Amino acid sequence: MATTIYYFSGTGNSLYLTRQLATKIGNCQIKSMARPPPIQPVGGSEENLGFVFPVYYRGLPRIVMQFAEKLNIRPGTYCFAVANYGGSKQGTLAMLNEALQSKGTQLSYTEGIKLPGNYILKFDMPSTEETHKILEEADGTIEETANAIAKKEIRPLTRSGIHISKIGSRLYYRRAAKFDEKFTVNEKCTSCGLCSEICPVQNIKLVNKKPAWQHHCERCLACVQWCPAEAIQYGKKTAKRRRYHNPNIRAKDIVEGNKGTTNV
Ligand SMILES: Cc1cc2nc3c(=O)[nH]c(=O)nc-3n(C[C@H](O)[C@H](O)[C@H](O)COP(=O)(O)O)c2cc1C
Repeated sequence: MATTIYYFSGTGNSLYLTRQLATKIGNCQIKSMARPPPIQPVGGSEENLGFVFPVYYRGLPRIVMQFAEKLNIRPGTYCFAVANYGGSKQGTLAMLNEALQSKGTQLSYTEGIKLPGNYILKFDMPSTEETHKILEEADGTIEETANAIAKKEIRPLTRSGIHISKIGSRLYYRRAAKFDEKFTVNEKCTSCGLCSEICPVQNIKLVNKKPAWQHHCERCLACVQWCPAEAIQYGKKTAKRRRYHNPNIRAKDIVEGNKGTTNV
């Protein structure tokens, strides 16, 4: 049976995880949630559905919530979700499950996997050694998760942590439009345009060859993290911090995914 995995990724951790799972599960296609959701119903007896995404502010990224709400999932579909995070997943998976339940379906299997944290607005980024250690530690869980999904195992999900996740998400969804006002670009900018291409939601236009943010940011921070000149800053704190993106993923992979041509 075919499996479709929908992913959302700013710095590549979720795309890495998606590719790992897809390869191990077999017969999988992967699609970015940055693309419009399919209009036709999905799932049913022919297709399993998966969701892979990062934890944002203790909860579900807004784009993931909106994507799930728009999907038309056939009853009885085997659905799974894998959240990844730098610190803790809290009740993020329960949030997604609740959204799917309101549409008459639910998650049959879920897992949370710790990957390198990318929240550069608060923390410095992991070193190369730290990154490799965290990725290595995740290998076993990725393998177990793929095996369980391939066998269509059922793992009941509790609502533990859902309240804290909903509070975190509510605050950030509300302030969505104003967030990108603190992005700046300095003289190191070479006008390469990668920031505009890598933004999953086309929130960056080049105006006079420099990035200009359009106030519908999803906060993935791909623009800050992938800028080859490290010319993009957010407020005052990012200037002194290292940048991070998953070492197994190239900028091109994210860009192609944004355009809808993602390969496993
Ligand atoms: C806006 C934002 C908020 C985040 N909030 C959390 C959080 O509340 N808890 C956590 O453990 N990690 C948090 N993170 C870290 C990411 O979940 C983690 O690094 C993830 O692997 C990034 O996935 P990606 O590379 O696919 O974008 C946050 C990252 C961003 C960009």
